[in-house]
Amino acid sequence: MEGVGGTPPEMLKEESQPSHVLPTSFEANSLKKSNWGFLITGIVGGTLVAVYAVATPFVTPALRKVCLPFVPATTKQIENVVKMLRCRRGSLVDIGSGDGRIVIAAAKEGFTAVGYELNPWLVWYSRYRAWQEGVHGSAKFYISDLWKVTFSQYSNVVVFGVPQMMLQLEKKLELELEDDARVIACRFPFPHWTPDHVTGEGIDTVWAYDARTFRGGAKRTRSTHFQLVIQIQ
Ligand SMILES: C[S@@+](CC[C@H](N)C(=O)[O-])C[C@H]1O[C@@H](n2cnc3c(N)ncnc32)[C@H](O)[C@@H]1O
Repeated sequence: MEGVGGTPPEMLKEESQPSHVLPTSFEANSLKKSNWGFLITGIVGGTLVAVYAVATPFVTPALRKVCLPFVPATTKQIENVVKMLRCRRGSLVDIGSGDGRIVIAAAKEGFTAVGYELNPWLVWYSRYRAWQEGVHGSAKFYISDLWKVTFSQYSNVVVFGVPQMMLQLEKKLELELEDDARVIACRFPFPHWTPDHVTGEGIDTVWAYDARTFRGGAKRTRSTHFQLVIQIQ
C-alpha cells in the first residue's frame, strides 16, 4: 500500500536523512591528514624557534669585533685561580663568567663574587648552579657587556679572555682598578704587564698581576680614578 494516503516514499527518504551531512571516508581521511599536517608544522616550527633562541647567544660572540666564545675553565685552571687568591679577600669579579664556575668556586672560598656575562642562558644557569651549591647569597650574576661595566669596586678580578681583547682590557683595568687590586688572567696573559706570580702550565696557566706593580708605583686614589674617568669621557 505504498504511496497510498501516506507520504510518498521519496519524501520519506529525504526526511529520514540527518540534518548534518557526515563526511565521506575520503573527506575524513583528508581532515585527519590536515590535522597531522598542522601538528607536525607546529612541532617543527616550535623546535626551530627553540633551537634558534638557545643557539643565538652562543653564536653571536663569534660575530662581534672581538670574538670571545664560551669555553669553560678546566678544573686545574680553577684550582690555579684559587691558589692565586690565597691570602686575598673581599670582592671578586669574573669578566665573562660563562657557566659561573669561577664565581661559584670563589664564593666557596669566602669571596663576595660577581659574574658579568653576555649570554642570558649562561647567567640563568649560573644562578641555578649557585643556588644548587648553596652559595647564591655570595655569588651574583648579571647579564652585561663587559665593555660597559666599570670594575673599580672589585679588589680581585679574574678573566679568561682571548689575546685580541687583552690590550684593550689592560687599559680599561689600569684606569679603573684601585691600587690594592689583583688581576688574574687565565690561559692568555696581558701584553704589557709583568706578572707578580705565575702558576700552572699549558692551557691551565694562570698569571697574577698586582695593580701597584702594573702601575709601576704610581699611586692612584679613588678621587684620581674618577678624575681620569671624567677626563676620558
Ligand atoms: C672563555 S669563556 C670563560 C668563561 C668563564 N669565565 C670560565 O672561566 O669558565 C668567556 C665568556 O665570556 C662571554 N662573553 C663574550 N663576550 C662578552 C662580553 N662582551 N661581555 C660579557 N661576556 C662576554 C662568553 O659568552 C663566554 O661565556
